[in-house]
Amino acid sequence: MKQVVCRTSELGPGELTRTQVGPIPVVVIRASDGTLHGLVAKCLHQGGPLDKGKLYEHMTPGLGLGEYIPQEGCEVLKCPWHGYEYDIRTGCVIADPSRRLQQIAVREEGEEIVAELVPPTPSPAAASA
Ligand code: FES
Repeated sequence: MKQVVCRTSELGPGELTRTQVGPIPVVVIRASDGTLHGLVAKCLHQGGPLDKGKLYEHMTPGLGLGEYIPQEGCEVLKCPWHGYEYDIRTGCVIADPSRRLQQIAVREEGEEIVAELVPPTPSPAAASA
């Protein structure tokens, strides 16, 4: 099942949008490096609307007291309801990578961005166990 999300020019780096693929709500994100990511837009906690979430670069503690540095290549989507944070590349919960949102395949086809349901992949934590 495939769904046209929007025109490629309508989703810039650091932006997200919502679509529906069949019965599944999907958040489509264009990361700051231009890559596209699709995740089920329903939070694992209590079903919050992730398409209303905030997108930002993940920060990790630095060496100094109160110092935080950006974790390169890790952008986070934060649920607007209670703050669960997800790695947009994997769908994994930042605080517990064994929990993961289903990823939805998204890509550019000509001038359009499309989302498509494909079989789920195992979580990185499960694959390394
Ligand atoms: S519903 Fe998303 S953090 Fe609670």
